[in-house]
This record gives sequence, C-alpha cells and structure tokens, in this order.
Amino acid sequence: MKRLRHATTIMLAAMLATTLLIGCAQTPRTFQTPQYQDGELSVPEDYRNWPKFLSEVQRTDAKQVREIYINPIGHATKIGEAFPNGTLAVMEIYKAQEASDGTLLIGADGKLVKGDLLKVAIMGKGAGWGESVVPAELRNGDWVYAMYLADGKTKAPDDLNTCRACHLPLTSTDYVFRYDEYFQKRTN
Ligand code: HEC
Repeated sequence: MKRLRHATTIMLAAMLATTLLIGCAQTPRTFQTPQYQDGELSVPEDYRNWPKFLSEVQRTDAKQVREIYINPIGHATKIGEAFPNGTLAVMEIYKAQEASDGTLLIGADGKLVKGDLLKVAIMGKGAGWGESVVPAELRNGDWVYAMYLADGKTKAPDDLNTCRACHLPLTSTDYVFRYDEYFQKRTN
C-alpha cells in the first residue's frame, strides 16, 4: 500500500514536471504579442488596408480633417463591448486647406478640403500594456499611445500624458472617442 502511494506520488510528480516543462516550452508563444509601453507602438505599413473607423472627421475647430482606421481585431467588436486586446487604431491628421485670408476652404461636398498630412496617431491595447503608465491615475486601461510625424516613422514631440488625459474620461466607451458614431455608421 505504502509502495503504491509512493508510486502515485512519483507519477504525480512526473506529471507535474511534464506540465511545467510543456508550460515552459509554450512560454515564448505568449510573447508573440510584444509588450508595448507608451510611445513604443509603431504604425503598421498596411494600415490603409484596414477597415475604416471614420472618414473625413471634420475638425473645423482645429482646422484639420482626420481619417481613422481600425485593425480587423478591433473591427470585430460589437456595440456595447470593449475593444479586445490586439486592437490598434490609427488616426491620420490632415491640415484643412485655407484661403489666402486664412478662412477655411469648403469643397463642393460642403466639407473641409484635405491638405497636407501633418501627423499620424496610434493607440493600441494589449494585456498589461497599460501597467507601465506613470502616473497611474492617467492610465487608460491597457491602451497605450504614440504620435508620429507625417512619415509615420519619426516620433512627434507630443507629451503622451496629454493623450491619456483627454481620452481618460471616456470610460464608458473604452477610452475611444466617437465610439457611438462608429457603430452607427459601420456597414459591416
Ligand atoms: C484634447 C483632447 C485630445 C487629446 C489631447 C488627444 N486626443 Fe486623440 N482624440 C480626440 C478626439 C476628440 C478624437 C476623435 C476624433 C476627432 O474628433 O478628432 C480622438 C481620436 C483619437 C484616435 C482615434 C481613435 C478614437 O479614439 O476615436 C487616436 C488613435 C488618438 N486619438 C490618439 C491620440 C494620441 C496618440 C494623442 C496624443 C499624442 C491624442 N490622441 C491626444 C481627442 C484628443
């Protein structure tokens, strides 16, 4: 009986060791999605092939037009849900064209006329990505932010705390502006 118990213990220990070994062997998989901190996300090359989040956002106040894209992971979200980990949103910020007297030009479609691309903003979320945010009060869940110049590669000088502070109150829409508008306009 005692021997049997001993054998069982050995068997259990072996099983545990195997589980641990398999666990270790699998560990690298969890790192396939890298851990990003604020300012570390780069703009994916192919984001213009992603689903559109919103087109030609009219920001008369800022004299800008914005184009927002969301990756397929984010696009699979249903209204009322938070965006899943792995979501990325890219926002192009264009200068709105002005007449020589500084007034904003309005196109035949009644909209602002898109001028030069000024900057490219990105926000993305992943498990634990927000943990490094300091100060913690400005943490936007697990979203992190980055801002680039028009080439999408050179870091813009923006203080990322300003991004977080402005998006922070939007807790009911997962820190995403125009969440409702997106779901209202989305066609697929
Ligand atoms: C003063 C407020 C404010 C600040 C500061 C701000 N944002 Fe936003 N952000 C907005 C608004 C409002 C929108 C919705 C689009 C629009 O109306 O221009 C938006 C939209 C976005 C989007 C598209 C997804 C979404 O939430 O709709 C991204 C990406 C984004 N911002 C990134 C950034 C980054 C990166 C910074 C900092 C460098 C930043 N934002 C700073 C107000 C702000």
